[in-house]
Amino acid sequence: MSKTVRLDKFLADAGKGTRSEVKKYIQKGLVEINGQTAKKPEQKVGTEDRVLFKGEEITREPEYVYYLLHKPAGYVSATEDKRDRTVMELIPSHRKGLFPAGRLDKDTEGLLLITDDGALAHELLSPSRHVEKTYFVRAEGLVTEEDKEKLEKGIDIGEKRQTLPARVKLLEKEDISGAGTLRHVRPETLPEVYTELLLTIREGKFHQVKRMMEAVGKPVIYLKRISMGPLVLPEDLKKGECRPLTEEEIRKLKEAGRASGKNPKKC
Ligand code: URA
Repeated sequence: MSKTVRLDKFLADAGKGTRSEVKKYIQKGLVEINGQTAKKPEQKVGTEDRVLFKGEEITREPEYVYYLLHKPAGYVSATEDKRDRTVMELIPSHRKGLFPAGRLDKDTEGLLLITDDGALAHELLSPSRHVEKTYFVRAEGLVTEEDKEKLEKGIDIGEKRQTLPARVKLLEKEDISGAGTLRHVRPETLPEVYTELLLTIREGKFHQVKRMMEAVGKPVIYLKRISMGPLVLPEDLKKGECRPLTEEEIRKLKEAGRASGKNPKKC
């Protein structure tokens, strides 16, 4: 349900006059709600109501905003930082209360959600409800089938409990060439032996992917998040660019937030 406000407050907030002025306008029949002349200043209006003042529609700010950012390396996932550039510098909106929903390390690239919807962020991120996140990982050395099994079963990364079961897909060169979100800048110098893989986890422990890969002795040399729940890093969104989520993406994300707490053991 959307938040509702009194009509007189709504009109005053939209700059149509003081509370007492707008009450008079309402009495004079200058305000319409969904095609009906409004009669009462205390009548409630919500985001889906169409309000006309003197025949002109009043457009209002959405309750919350949601941006999908392609985070480049070199930016920290914070609203402020004394030393480093923050991801907020890449967002065109100056709305108060925007923050990164979740963290990517300074050197990690990829999909980051920026929003001011604290309740949704909480649902998506609280430890018992984490949604699936998939990372493209380039790791030093040869990741073996045995390593894959360990990562998939759950592994000791020095926490009280092992990590929850994960999914691993070892990538062949054919998987990567032309595979949109997996395309990335290849550094000039690569170790002689390295492995590229997709790792899907549902937790968000500090440096989790790097620690999981360390635990099998294959340290991460490049990391990029390519999806979070129903959100997928768009192929045409360049590093450092962001775009608002579509209505469909917002709906799916809210569904994922609600659903993610229900089956915490499976990945
Ligand atoms: N895991 C990491 O180790 N780093 C990130 O930035 C995200 C997940």
